[in-house]
Amino acid sequence: MELIKSIKEFRKARRLCCKAAAEAASRSPLVGFVPTMGNLHNGHFSLMKLMNQECDVRLASIFVNPAQFGPSEDYENYPRTLEADLSKCEEAGVDLVFAPDAGEIYLPGRSTQVTVSGLVEGYCGIVRPGHFDGVALVVAKLFNLAQPDRAYFGQKDYQQFRVIERMARDLNFPLEMVMCPTVREESGLAMSSRNSYLTPSQRYAARTIFAGLKALEEAFQAGERGAEILKAWGRTQLDEQVRLEYLDIVDGQTLQPLSTAAEGDVVLVAARVGATRLIDNIILKAGGQDC
Ligand code: PAF
Repeated sequence: MELIKSIKEFRKARRLCCKAAAEAASRSPLVGFVPTMGNLHNGHFSLMKLMNQECDVRLASIFVNPAQFGPSEDYENYPRTLEADLSKCEEAGVDLVFAPDAGEIYLPGRSTQVTVSGLVEGYCGIVRPGHFDGVALVVAKLFNLAQPDRAYFGQKDYQQFRVIERMARDLNFPLEMVMCPTVREESGLAMSSRNSYLTPSQRYAARTIFAGLKALEEAFQAGERGAEILKAWGRTQLDEQVRLEYLDIVDGQTLQPLSTAAEGDVVLVAARVGATRLIDNIILKAGGQDC
C-alpha cells in the first residue's frame, strides 16, 4: 500500500496501479474508491472490505475537508489519526491512500462552487448551512482525481449519499454509487468518528437514538402508517440527554417529508448529546430490518 500526498503523484500512482491490474487481469480493471476524513472505524472498514472484494484497484482518501465545516464547528479538533488509519487501510486491502494537505486541494483564490440544490436545503442542510456545498465540492474534486468506477459510502450519512449521487449524475461522473449498511456499536449506536467526543454517560444516552428508530419501525411493521404517530413512537425511547434536532419520515430519493409512510421511505434523525451532534436513519421495511 502506498501513501500519497500530492495530486501529481496520486495521478501517476493511480495510472501505474491500473496498468498493473489490467495486465494481471487481461481486461480493464474495476477501480473502487472510499473517500474518508480519517479516524477510521468499522464503518469505514466495511466499505473498504467490500471495495476489496469487488474491485481490482482499491483507492481511499483521508482528508479533513475544511470546506464542509461551519465557522463554529469542529474542524480544528476533528480527530486526526493518520498512523492508525493507514494500518486499517492496509488491513482492508487498499492499494493507494491519498492524504493531501488542505493547500494541495484548495488553491488560493478558488472561486468554483458545487451546489446540489433541492436535496441540500432540508435536515442537515438547515443546521449546517454550506456543509453539503463543501462535501459536493471536495467529492467532485476527489472523483475527478481518483476516477473510480465504484464509490462506496455508508448509509449513516443518508442525505450526503443522495447529494453526492445527484452531483455525480449531474456532472456526468461515470461511476456507480454503492450505499453500504450502517455499522453499529453493540448498543445500536451508529458508528461515527464523532462518537469519540461522548462521555460514557452520553454514549449510554446516545444509544436511545437507535432504540427510537427501532420503536418507530416496530409500529410501522405492526401496520401503523401515519407519520406523526410513527414519529411519536420514535420519540418515546429517547433519553433526556438526547436533544432532538429532527426526526422525520421522507421519500428516499427526494428527501421530501411525508405524512403517510410506506416501505422504502427513510426515517432521518439528528440529535445532540452534550455538544456532539449525531445522525442516524433507517429505511422502512415491512418485514425484518437491514440497517
Ligand atoms: O463522509 C465523509 O467522511 C465526508 O463527508 C466525505 C464524503 C469524505 C467528504 O469529505
